[in-house]
Amino acid sequence: MKQKKMIIFLSSIILILSSNLGASSTDRYTMEQIYNNMCIECHSSNGSGNTEKLTPSMANLSLNEIKESLLEIENEDGHVIMQHNRDQILKKDMKYSAKEMATYLHTRFNR
Ligand code: HEC
Repeated sequence: MKQKKMIIFLSSIILILSSNLGASSTDRYTMEQIYNNMCIECHSSNGSGNTEKLTPSMANLSLNEIKESLLEIENEDGHVIMQHNRDQILKKDMKYSAKEMATYLHTRFNR
């Protein structure tokens, strides 16, 4: 009986460890970490943009507008500058989906 409990205990430990190892690189950074490290220098903390970097404001965009823009960037539909930026950011293993990033940005800019 004791041995059986030990086996159950050990296998749950192995399960927990292996599920952590299996975490994909997508889970490594939060949207906040990505924005604060990779986007803020051009887009500023509240999304109002940066005239020196020719970056427009995103602060007044709706959730859907931000998502559409992020999808256009992803699909190489316009946004030449951002396509280049996104490639550089993905190379650093900071992956983000349009939906997740749009939700994060919209909440952040409308606090
Ligand atoms: C080096 C400066 C720079 C960095 C870094 C940068 N951007 Fe941009 N971004 C721009 C510029 C310039 C534009 C406008 C030109 C364009 O769309 O390509 C833009 C446009 C956008 C747009 C479209 C806005 C609209 O009005 O349609 C979105 C969304 C966006 N950026 C999100 C991001 C996110 C998210 C990050 C970080 C993961 C990021 N940007 C990093 C400079 C930057």
